Amino acid sequence: MYLYILVSIILTLLFAFGCNAALRKHAGSFYILAVLIILFEVIYYQTGLRDAAPEWLTQYIVNPFKRGALPTAMFIVVMYIGALDAKKTSVSKLMGIRGELSIIACILTLGHNIVYGQKHFVNLFTNPGEMKPQAFIAAIISLVMIAIMLPLMITSFTSVRKKMRAASWKNLQRLAYPFFALIYIHVMVLFVPKFSEKYLDIIAYTLIFGIYAVLRITKAVKTAKNNSPQLDYAENA
Ligand code: HEM
Repeated sequence: MYLYILVSIILTLLFAFGCNAALRKHAGSFYILAVLIILFEVIYYQTGLRDAAPEWLTQYIVNPFKRGALPTAMFIVVMYIGALDAKKTSVSKLMGIRGELSIIACILTLGHNIVYGQKHFVNLFTNPGEMKPQAFIAAIISLVMIAIMLPLMITSFTSVRKKMRAASWKNLQRLAYPFFALIYIHVMVLFVPKFSEKYLDIIAYTLIFGIYAVLRITKAVKTAKNNSPQLDYAENA
């Protein structure tokens, strides 16, 4: 067992820096690759390929995608870019591919939704009384997450963004904050009941989301201070 989320963040950073230029130039090819990955995931679990495949393939390659850790790591990187100082070279390098990264994250999340949804959504709509409380709550939260994620994904495409008023686009993109918070709640609802098995994951997710919240709030307070009319007055006096 290893912490899928930490390995996924490292892989995401390697991808984001290593494929930065390619991602800017050929974003469409990466979207197609992401769709192929989710098709592979579905085939892998539907056709019994998983039983025939070596354990390492499932553990180290397929699981981070299937469990939702890899797409979540991409969302984490996208959110952190917005909370860090954009003047830093490494941050500004990633800033240019924020939209592309979030589109890939959304596509890959669909793979996680399909694989787990086949069991949990089917139970939710046919036999909710038989579900464990945590699975029931997590499935309801997932429905809200999907409802938020789809408009976020569609409006991240430059062609759609260009057709929208800047203010409406910005307002809609603010949904990323509740979406991000719901990811944390989704994971906690599923992992806290398995505390003895998942406590390291719980600590890792709590640190990642907690540090993000502190950084984002600090940045918002700084921006508000810099834009405050009182300060302008004081500075001009
Ligand atoms: C918008 C969508 C979603 C996101 C971003 C998301 C994200 C995550 C993440 C980050 C984990 C923990 C992965 C790990 O570190 O091991 C997870 C676990 C899980 N998710 Fe989701 N999820 C989403 C939707 C869904 C849906 C639709 C379902 C099913 C209805 C679902 C069912 C599960 C289950 C059962 C687990 C626990 C897996 C385990 O025991 O390791 N998720 N999800």
